[in-house]
Amino acid sequence: MTSSRLTAGPQGALRAVSNSAKGPEFETTDAALTVSFAGIGRTFPGERGQGRSVLRDISLDVKAGEVLAILGTSGCGKSTLLRIAGGLDSATTGDILIDGRPVTPFDARTAVGFQEPRLLPWRSVADNVALGLVRGTPKTEGAARVANLIDLVGLGAFAGHRPRQISGGMAQRASLARALARNPGVLLLDEPFGALDALTRLKMQDLLLDVHAAAPTTVLLVTHDVDEALQLADRIILLGRKDGEEGSSIAQEIVVPGHRPRDRGSAELAELRGRLLAGLGIDRHGEARGVEKTTAMPTFPY
Ligand SMILES: Nc1ncnc2c1ncn2[C@@H]1O[C@H](COP(=O)(O)OP(=O)(O)OP(=O)(O)O)[C@@H](O)[C@H]1O
Ligand SMILES: [Mg+2]
Repeated sequence: MTSSRLTAGPQGALRAVSNSAKGPEFETTDAALTVSFAGIGRTFPGERGQGRSVLRDISLDVKAGEVLAILGTSGCGKSTLLRIAGGLDSATTGDILIDGRPVTPFDARTAVGFQEPRLLPWRSVADNVALGLVRGTPKTEGAARVANLIDLVGLGAFAGHRPRQISGGMAQRASLARALARNPGVLLLDEPFGALDALTRLKMQDLLLDVHAAAPTTVLLVTHDVDEALQLADRIILLGRKDGEEGSSIAQEIVVPGHRPRDRGSAELAELRGRLLAGLGIDRHGEARGVEKTTAMPTFPY
């Protein structure tokens, strides 16, 4: 039996350290991993047997430890791309490698966080976080890791609470801790703060930066929020359809300047924000192009 332990790195980083000479039986990583998309395409079965292309020719190399934000309009294929990266779906064409090796179904090197916390209501916060541990993790080691992560996301006083006894933001923090429990080399987040109020959302963004500094991992973050992408990411890709083409490809790729935490009001970011919003079809006044304007007040039920 292999065991691994949590240890403090240079900045108090959490790492799983294997103490088996043969290497770990269960796969954990003690480092962030690269992700390489090469010519990824995804076609779903469409009407009358014709395929419907959702993604086409996505090629991208994500560096180890990078935070990559994926932006795009609803339905453009962001979640599909994330699912492919985690081995929850398969590409129709192309290859995807993590740390130079092909992604496997439900790849244990990755962990996924969703828009809603998806906690089991009958389990305590600590037991929910423990669900994220890799199977076979020794009990005492697992308990120590869970306690560490619960502290990291600021839920130390709530470990024994049930999900109904904590707020939505706290539940989302527990869900982030659960995703980190397996020490993923790649953390896949699908609009993780999308259901939270604006203030909690800002706090969660700061927390994600703290977590990223403490537990080294590569982050692929799907978001609708341009400001969130500019605040958190090293690089942003915008998925979109080119004229006359079916399926989204990379329409824009932006390396975000400066170190985090960034000044939300900087002129440099304002320029990038404008560029990204234009790419999403929103003009400077926040109006969606090509969308019919409604002047009448909607009546209930909407
Ligand atoms: N399993 C599936 N079978 C058929 N079509 C699918 C499947 N999964 C996704 N799609 C289609 O692929 C397209 C992209 O879906 P996806 O969920 O990736 O979009 P998204 O960019 O994440 O959208 P949103 O921002 O609304 O979450 C949609 O048209 C969706 O209907
Ligand atoms: Mg989605």
